[in-house]
Amino acid sequence: MSSVEGDVPTWRGRWTFIMAATGSAVGLGNIWKFPYIAGENGGGAFVLVYLACILLVGIPVMVAEVMLGRRGRHSPVNSMRAVITEVGARPYWQGLGWLGWLIAVLVLSFYSVIAGWALAYIPEMATGAFQGVNPQATKDIFDTMLQDRNRLILWHTVFMVMTVVVVTAGVTRGLGAAARVLMPALFVLLIILLIFSYWHGDFSRGLSFLFSFDVSKLTLRGVLEALGHAFFTLSLGVGAIMAYGAYMPADVSIGKTVLTVALLDTVVALMAGMAIFPIVFAHGGIDPGAGPALLFVTLPVAFGAMQAGILIGGLFFILVVIAAWSSAISLLEPGVAWLAENKGFNRFTATLLLATATWALGLGTVLSFNDWAGYKVAGMTFFDGIDFLTSRVLLPLSGLLIALFVGWVLTPTVSKDELNGEQSAAWPVWYWVLRYICPAAIGVVLVMGLYDSFA
Ligand code: TRP
Repeated sequence: MSSVEGDVPTWRGRWTFIMAATGSAVGLGNIWKFPYIAGENGGGAFVLVYLACILLVGIPVMVAEVMLGRRGRHSPVNSMRAVITEVGARPYWQGLGWLGWLIAVLVLSFYSVIAGWALAYIPEMATGAFQGVNPQATKDIFDTMLQDRNRLILWHTVFMVMTVVVVTAGVTRGLGAAARVLMPALFVLLIILLIFSYWHGDFSRGLSFLFSFDVSKLTLRGVLEALGHAFFTLSLGVGAIMAYGAYMPADVSIGKTVLTVALLDTVVALMAGMAIFPIVFAHGGIDPGAGPALLFVTLPVAFGAMQAGILIGGLFFILVVIAAWSSAISLLEPGVAWLAENKGFNRFTATLLLATATWALGLGTVLSFNDWAGYKVAGMTFFDGIDFLTSRVLLPLSGLLIALFVGWVLTPTVSKDELNGEQSAAWPVWYWVLRYICPAAIGVVLVMGLYDSFA
């Protein structure tokens, strides 16, 4: 930490921000969610729409969010207040900070349960439960786990406690250092998996599934899912990135930094997809549209067939947990910062309070896979409902509001000033896309996608 501006210290240089933001961005969204929603939506066309969403909407909104944080130099809710005061905007824009951390808590409630699955897989891997298994056997192991409510609750609890421990200690310490070592390690393991898929999977079929553009498979609700996932995977719309932006030194280029983070995030997601689908197609009996189970029933087949499968498989799920951990921290932090700064709680109490509420909500997701699996509203279980509400309604909505606020309410002098390190040609392009393309695209996709989901 070096200089102090506003009420938070700034990080040293650009890499610490990149590491922290990448730690937040890269997580279950890339390794678990992206492959399964791509599979459910028929691959190719969905993937390309998703990439377009990252480029045209995700990146510009991310720049906006980082900028708000750096301008405000506080926790998200108070950064919003500071910026609102600076430009004399209507006070109700503060709702954006609020909306953000509420969405974050909803996301974390199911995020923690899924991270718990990955935790549960570490001992399974280490004890060799998956050695030599076929897809049917991995499915059985996975289904047995889902039926065991108490086991899911146990691991969900462990994960929440892990998150609480780091958040109470304060985000800046330790986290950066850990991410620096662990992110590259995850990358290396994904490369090993890719090589395995190349040799033992149906690689060409996997690739053509992921990248061939078959428009007939694309639905409006799929487009909305791709857009929502662009926000989810880049950690946008909840103030997480805004919170990190507050620590960013003033002389660092926001544009270049955001591009780096988005690129790393996208590469990890594509690598996960390219490792998983060749395995899907090499074995009969795995459906690419297997849903949330996909990661957990495909990769163990690969580990079970590898020489050092116990070691590599165990390590892989450890790294998945760590990637999820560094994301979960960024989901809890905005709410904790708000409770601590505005409501007079100390950090520990604030964290405990919010984490307990989130944990309790997570029980709904746990039960969605067993006792409550039969209870559906509009065809959705509790988990489906929370996922739908956050990824396909609230995140796009919050992204829309951020684009409108920065594009139309904030005076251009402020954004120009914050982005002054940028190439002069980049600012007008970004500003134009943020003002026109982002709101129009989000608005249209949101309305049509929701209509298509329920019609
Ligand atoms: N981006 C993370 C992932 O892909 C999850 C995450 C972290 C997130 N912070 C967020 C999602 C904020 C939405 C909003 O796994």
